[in-house]
Amino acid sequence: MTFTSDFISRNRVERIQLAAATTMRIGGAATLVTLQDRRDLPELLSGPHRWLGKGANLLVGDDGIEEPVVRLGDVFRDIMMEPTVGGRARVRIGAAADLAELISLCVKSGLAGPEGLAGVPATVGGALRMNAGTSTCWMLDWVTRVEVVLPGSDTPEWIERALMPAAYRSCGLPTGTLFLGCEMDLAVDDPQVLKATATRLKQAKAASQPLALPSAGCVFKNPAPNMPAGKLIDELGLKGTRVGDAEVSSIHANFIVNPKRTASCRDVVALVRRIREVAWRQRGVVLNMEVETWNCPAELFMHPREVPHEVSV
Ligand code: EPU
Repeated sequence: MTFTSDFISRNRVERIQLAAATTMRIGGAATLVTLQDRRDLPELLSGPHRWLGKGANLLVGDDGIEEPVVRLGDVFRDIMMEPTVGGRARVRIGAAADLAELISLCVKSGLAGPEGLAGVPATVGGALRMNAGTSTCWMLDWVTRVEVVLPGSDTPEWIERALMPAAYRSCGLPTGTLFLGCEMDLAVDDPQVLKATATRLKQAKAASQPLALPSAGCVFKNPAPNMPAGKLIDELGLKGTRVGDAEVSSIHANFIVNPKRTASCRDVVALVRRIREVAWRQRGVVLNMEVETWNCPAELFMHPREVPHEVSV
């Protein structure tokens, strides 16, 4: 896709390796557009594109991405907090803001809810899109409405949360929806209590997840609320299993880590396939990807019994 000179003068357009834009440190080349001006949304949306948040839940293919990869720039980071009325306050935040920034502001201001997501690496837009969450809360729990551009449209609109059929790791809006921001309705609480909760959650994550190594977080969705994928993979004895430079974390089995930053997407896919095969054969469980995948082999989405066996792992 080529952009007009006006577009290029207002927005940053550069060629990058997506490995540099993802926490997994994997992914080939792409044209990265940092969108700085709402006026340019129609031009951008007139062609194929993909939306990138913090790249913390994303596995990108080694051949990279043909269509422009778009990140929202600083103009989409605004935060607005209304005065408290009747023990509640409304907060409006842009999708490009870091989720950590939202949490820290709410904690300091004594507004409860977002502290439950402390330690989740995401932009606000990415967290909305994935309905990012923990075992106790989800991003969309406090949201009253979201500002989006739906696929096929080039006009931003506000959608009420009540109309979004959100679920575990799903915002309920179509794939390709662009999130521009959201509004939340938060209850007043004691900042010290909120801070203590955020600190406890971050410590628990640091103790149970391989945060020091490149990864994309949990690879698989939990097959059921009482069956965490990490526990299952651990019980199957797969911790430490390696394909090429990709490895099942020995700290949390639902993480695949890239310790040397030299793993390829092919390594990760072969490892995923191995895990899915063992889970299917030994437990009859189909593990589905939680991580978003771009231009990765289709076998990631096939039933494990249908996956071809041409590569031995
Ligand atoms: N467990 C094991 N072995 C392991 C990993 C976990 O036995 O290798 C056990 C734990 O001891 C615990 C249970 O499995 O009893 C659940 O583990 P954990 O508390 O880590 O929760 P989880 O279900 O594995 C979910 C989210 C995480 C989120 C944590 C903490 C999913 C797929 N994962 O993990 O989200 O950080 O809760 O709230 O829903 C992510 O989305 O990328 C992610 C990491």
